[in-house]
Amino acid sequence: MPDFRIRKMELKDKNALMEILHLADPHGEGHPAPELVYRRWGEYYFEESRDHCFVAAHRATDRAAGVILCAPDTPGYQKIFNKHYYREIQKTLDQVENSHPGTIRKHHMAYYRKREGVQLNLVHFRSMRHIYREYPAHLHINIHPDCQRLGLGHLLVDALLNPLKETGIKGLHLIVASDNSKGIGFYRKYGFKELLNIFPRGKNGIIYGLKTS
Ligand SMILES: CC(C)(COP(=O)(O)OP(=O)(O)OC[C@H]1O[C@@H](n2cnc3c(N)ncnc32)[C@H](O)[C@@H]1OP(=O)(O)O)[C@@H](O)C(=O)NCCC(=O)NCCS
Repeated sequence: MPDFRIRKMELKDKNALMEILHLADPHGEGHPAPELVYRRWGEYYFEESRDHCFVAAHRATDRAAGVILCAPDTPGYQKIFNKHYYREIQKTLDQVENSHPGTIRKHHMAYYRKREGVQLNLVHFRSMRHIYREYPAHLHINIHPDCQRLGLGHLLVDALLNPLKETGIKGLHLIVASDNSKGIGFYRKYGFKELLNIFPRGKNGIIYGLKTS
């Protein structure tokens, strides 16, 4: 991949991260609230787990074109997220609702509010326990729309696997909406295994997992 290099995420990547999450958000592409998407999907990883996050950066500018965000210990992540990040997301949702009426509904972002309690307490569901035991790390991946299907997603998962393995982490998992055909196509092609279908409050999600060795 001559035009890109894979490296660890750095402090300077915050703006590119916000932009990528906004433009490559499978739930709400193109809406006018990038800060909300960042709060929900990026901020925890950027602030607390940057060492486990990688970017695919343009060689010419070193600006990130794709990101993989990872929390190596999902129950630990859920605890901190619920305690320190969840309330700010709700505040930002309220602000966006006031400043851009209709946005939340139009871009299906009410789901941030409605599903949150369910999603982040999945750790308490008996069916999730074996997943967290066998696939403890949680990941998100987003590639800028202009740079998709160039192999960057594959390179970013490759980059994450070894460091996880070296720290004794047996596997990683993610949750994808069942209507996200790009995401599902990607995970299947990479070799992720479908582990579980979940139905938090009516929206169908699928958990995929991958062993680190
Ligand atoms: C899913 C995503 C990360 C894939 O990254 P990528 O860099 O484009 O993927 P790669 O180039 O490494 O791999 C390409 C493979 O992924 C799958 N894929 C990628 N885009 C696809 C699409 N539009 N439709 C179906 N499959 C697709 C295919 O299997 C493809 O292989 P092919 O080109 O030989 O058919 C990227 O499309 C993305 O950022 N999507 C928006 C965010 C998202 O949905 N993230 C996952 C949320 S859980």
